Amino acid sequence: MNNTNAAKETGFALSSQGIRIAPSLLAADFSRLSEEVAAVESKGATILHLDVMDGHFVPNISFGSPVIASLRPRTKMFFDAHLMISEPARYAEAFVRAGCDHITFHVEAVSDPRAVVECIRALGVSVGVSLNPGTSVSAIDAVLESVDMVLVMTVWPGFGGQKFMESELGKVVELRRRLARHQRLEIDGGIDADTIGAAAAAGADTFVAGTAVFGAPDPAAAMNRLRELAVQASAKAGDR
Ligand code: DX5
Ligand code: ZN
Repeated sequence: MNNTNAAKETGFALSSQGIRIAPSLLAADFSRLSEEVAAVESKGATILHLDVMDGHFVPNISFGSPVIASLRPRTKMFFDAHLMISEPARYAEAFVRAGCDHITFHVEAVSDPRAVVECIRALGVSVGVSLNPGTSVSAIDAVLESVDMVLVMTVWPGFGGQKFMESELGKVVELRRRLARHQRLEIDGGIDADTIGAAAAAGADTFVAGTAVFGAPDPAAAMNRLRELAVQASAKAGDR
């Protein structure tokens, strides 16, 4: 049902350590999605971040499972779905059928995060939980140990191209301390060459970048530059 083979072929495992840039499709040219995806994949991207918005949980509508399914045969990248939707458990299966390898839901969208984690895991994919700005880490206490990834939003979800909220970095520091080695810590919103260093120093390991990659004249070069900056900042922070 899911596309774990694709993940294996790219050598990507969600649990592996190391810095990863996840280009966000939201900022790509929607009239040429497969070319945009091929450009970053050919230069080393292994994760594609897929921002799904329902116009209800967030005040914008992006794309849904049919678009993801149409891209699935065009790339081997790991499909990292970020569901900014009100009923993630209701729709998770459609996204897995469409080829998503991982599903992140928002803790603010659900009343029983534990049940949602179980539901997504039962579909055979890895699971992440996301925190909006203003949501404290304690909101995910019940699932912190059982998820594969935590996603910290550094903008209010709904739109690309917003300003990075440094105020959220304290949560990244706290989560890095609390997460086990096999759990990934993703950061999303306003990540660019000026902000990625602080995000990496705080302890994030997976960096979503929309505008900074697909809005750049050379998306692959921009992605590689971001990776270099994150690796440097992370190594420097590790030395302290
Ligand atoms: C915002 C999305 C982000 C967005 C990031 O709701 O979750 O993934 O695409 O876009 P940039 O990198 O432009 O802030
Ligand atoms: Zn996102």
